[in-house]
Amino acid sequence: MSILEKLAKYHKSDKLGAHNYISIYEKYMISKKNKQVNLLEIGIGGYIDGNYSNELIGGNSLRIWRDYFKKGKIAGLDIYKKKLNLGNRVKIFQGSQNSAESLDKIIKKYRKFDFIIDDGSHFYKDIVFSFKYLFESLKEGGYYFIEDTQTSYLREFKGDGFYLNNNKTAINYFKKIIDKINYNEIENPYYRPDYFAKNITEIHFYHNLIVIKKEKNLEKSTILVNNRRLVSGHNLLKLRTLIKNIKYFSLYLKGKINSFLNIVKI
Ligand SMILES: C[S@@+](CC[C@H](N)C(=O)[O-])C[C@H]1O[C@@H](n2cnc3c(N)ncnc32)[C@H](O)[C@@H]1O
Repeated sequence: MSILEKLAKYHKSDKLGAHNYISIYEKYMISKKNKQVNLLEIGIGGYIDGNYSNELIGGNSLRIWRDYFKKGKIAGLDIYKKKLNLGNRVKIFQGSQNSAESLDKIIKKYRKFDFIIDDGSHFYKDIVFSFKYLFESLKEGGYYFIEDTQTSYLREFKGDGFYLNNNKTAINYFKKIIDKINYNEIENPYYRPDYFAKNITEIHFYHNLIVIKKEKNLEKSTILVNNRRLVSGHNLLKLRTLIKNIKYFSLYLKGKINSFLNIVKI
């Protein structure tokens, strides 16, 4: 049994057993075990009859991170007030993961994180809000984890088990990151990479868990230059380039019409 598994067992975490997350976490965390990492986990937990509001219980996973990263600084955020004494390396914040004000307080204190874990509300809007807001505060080489993505398929969490392409689920939001990672390979000179495209090099979809690596995404295409195929030849070069540009523009319009039709369909 690995150290992280032992800690998860000792602190009675559902990240081991009920879910199979611990060995995955360890894969991404082990190289920083003895470093002075900053880690934020959204969702402190601890419930009685499905109610998380009891302020004296919870913090199982914060205890794991505290004991695993002996030099680490750990922050926990929960919508409910939690009065837990987890030692001076663990700070607890009350607030919602969809509130810029709440997240700003944490960012102000820690500035940058090595690891961010979203185990909070599991609603699409909250997950995406936190991800978009916090991603800039992840260090180069850092990892962002989103737990319990099965909620994308569950009605209780406004997920959709019938229309699997529903745009308003976390799983579909993150599937689109695949295109961003490959932005240099997209044959479309109108494509504009955003911050996420330029700063994500890996996304891993595990059973109920997504892992994203923040790293400068600089790998060039072996085929395209600035998202277009260069035209070869001499005499006809200008004419060919013109034809290619017209073709690209018509494909651009076609793409816009298709995405409009997709929105209307939903
Ligand atoms: C599954 S529990 C977290 C368990 C904990 N991470 C662990 O592994 O021991 C989910 C927690 O998210 C909190 N939560 C729900 N909605 C939230 C929100 N909008 N912002 C922050 N926390 C939220 C709940 O109060 C609950 O404590």
